[in-house]
Amino acid sequence: MSKVLITGAAGFIGSQLAYRLWKDGEDVTLVDNFSYGLEDNLIFEDHAFTEEILRKDIRDLDFMEELFREKRFDTVYHIAGITPLPDCQNMPVEAADVNVRGTVILLDLVRRYGAERMIFASTSAVYENNTDFPSVEEKVVPPSLLYPSTKYAAEQFCRAFSAAYHIPVVVLRFANVFGPHIDCLRTTPPVMGYLVREYYRGNRPVLHSTGEQERDFIFVEDLIDLALLVRKAEAFDTVNVGTEETVSINRIASMIAEEMGCPERKPEYAETAHFWAKYPELYAKPYPIDGKMMEHEVLKYTCLSKKHAKEAYGWEPKTSLRDGIKKTVEFSVAALERAGEKRA
Ligand SMILES: NC(=O)c1ccc[n+]([C@@H]2O[C@H](COP(=O)([O-])OP(=O)(O)OC[C@H]3O[C@@H](n4cnc5c(N)ncnc54)[C@H](O)[C@@H]3O)[C@@H](O)[C@H]2O)c1
Repeated sequence: MSKVLITGAAGFIGSQLAYRLWKDGEDVTLVDNFSYGLEDNLIFEDHAFTEEILRKDIRDLDFMEELFREKRFDTVYHIAGITPLPDCQNMPVEAADVNVRGTVILLDLVRRYGAERMIFASTSAVYENNTDFPSVEEKVVPPSLLYPSTKYAAEQFCRAFSAAYHIPVVVLRFANVFGPHIDCLRTTPPVMGYLVREYYRGNRPVLHSTGEQERDFIFVEDLIDLALLVRKAEAFDTVNVGTEETVSINRIASMIAEEMGCPERKPEYAETAHFWAKYPELYAKPYPIDGKMMEHEVLKYTCLSKKHAKEAYGWEPKTSLRDGIKKTVEFSVAALERAGEKRA
């Protein structure tokens, strides 16, 4: 039985990963400070992690040192992070502290306590400024937004620790992830969480621009398959976790509306700037944020090459978009009910 640490384990992806490893009989240790995590994510049909999760911050150095000394982990999945783009843009010091310094803290502990490998949750958002598609791992035009900048910087530390100490560190660049446990309730939920919530409340969702932006969406269980397979890596690696296929936000909205029994409820459309206009502090003088950059973010296209994941790890995503959306809707509706939200 291998000893596995998962940071960010009360979040969407970390909780699903914890459950899969637990089912596989691994000895899992879960850490989360609940800055974004939810109790509800920790409750599964046949197990709840609510008691065993360690409600701690990865930057609590004394706690983390003691944890590594005591547990001697084999594998570290560093999934914790501040993810929402507006939060990172609004709280740059905190975002860098968690996403960059937090990652260095983990790498240094892995180095000193000898875990066999670390797997780091990065993002396809690092390809923000790329213009060639599908995006390949070796080519990143450095990003401009703060969220991908923190992840890109953290990736460099992963690379540097690996180069200097020969620690096998695998950087996983996730596309847009969806599936059960996606957050529907936070102020800026991921698009599928937002759509389910708005249809549930009886609202017409508001999409930005024409809704024809195309993105690469990966189902969480397929992501976890790859996160488990990369444990065979013996050296530093960076791996895209995407489908190499794209779908428009309009299509996603109509599929979710169909699954929720309200296909007639069409989205409304707002100006591209609408999304970011909700954050007036970003537009304050003397240095208002660059409007073109924000527009680019709203309209951006994502499509990740899956060639490396296939060749190196024999991985291919298995879940169809329709099946993944069905499972996402089913879980999210139940989660909204549990949260006391009224269905219209
Ligand atoms: N969901 C996606 O579409 C997506 C896409 C690309 C990359 N990622 C990355 O994958 C990871 C997981 O994403 P998610 O969607 O599950 O996000 P999430 O917000 O649901 O989970 C992140 C978890 O980290 C925890 N956390 C944050 N700061 C912490 C700290 N200082 N100490 C301890 N715990 C802390 C939060 O409480 C939360 O539970 C993140 O690092 C994110 O950047 C996610």
